[in-house]
Amino acid sequence: MLNGLFITGTDTNVGKTVAAAALMHRYRELGNLIYWKPVQTGIEQDDDTATVAKLGACRSDEIWPHGVRLRGPVSPHLAAQWSGTPIDLAQLQSFLAGAPAGRRWVIEGAGGVLVPLNERDLMIDFMVHLKLPVLIVARSTLGTINHTLLTIEAIRRRDLAVSGVIMIGDKNSDNRNAIELHSGVRVVGEMPRFPNLASESLANWAKTELDPGGAVYERALFPRF
Ligand SMILES: Nc1ncnc2c1ncn2[C@@H]1O[C@H](COP(=O)(O)OP(=O)(O)OP(=O)(O)O)[C@@H](O)[C@H]1O
Ligand SMILES: [Mg+2]
Repeated sequence: MLNGLFITGTDTNVGKTVAAAALMHRYRELGNLIYWKPVQTGIEQDDDTATVAKLGACRSDEIWPHGVRLRGPVSPHLAAQWSGTPIDLAQLQSFLAGAPAGRRWVIEGAGGVLVPLNERDLMIDFMVHLKLPVLIVARSTLGTINHTLLTIEAIRRRDLAVSGVIMIGDKNSDNRNAIELHSGVRVVGEMPRFPNLASESLANWAKTELDPGGAVYERALFPRF
């Protein structure tokens, strides 16, 4: 069984990869982190693993490079159909063969929780299989309350823990307060949109503004030790 957390989003393109890189900066010195992207579609244009390695200034041993890599910037089930190689949960688990022990995993989904992997399973079924607490990345703008609360509801329905929300974009305290009030989940970071996104600016933000109270660290990232 893995330790760590699973990063999902309220949508695709919401900022999960950037948030994962920020987490690497925030907790690197506290724990033995390793990032993993089990399912990457649109590999001809998006490589979240390479992005986290760069934005998170990761050492090679902080990246688990294996996983499903498919062409086509579409849902995993469709990219898999196009490639003629279906995804299944046992196959995703098999990518962990030989994984180092004693690490704290930062695992990034694809899209949001109810994205299909195949004709039967959704991304959340793999999340249930992993049993890791979930960190949700959300936009700060209009519409985020509904998307975030829906995501929390789906995760809780499967008896997974939600360890926090990271909001990306201009700070919006009304949206933040509504999410916290109606879910009881803490917003552990409000990340600005950086005009020049780079490892240094992200590291500075992460070390000062991300989970300053250490709630994710305490309750989610290292709960089984
Ligand atoms: N805080 C930020 N400042 C500047 N640009 C950002 C920020 N957060 C995200 N972006 C940009 O927004 C785009 C989407 O972000 P990101 O790739 O992290 O989304 P994602 O949720 O991981 O998407 P996917 O579902 O494809 O994995 C990227 O081009 C990224 O560089
Ligand atoms: Mg991503």
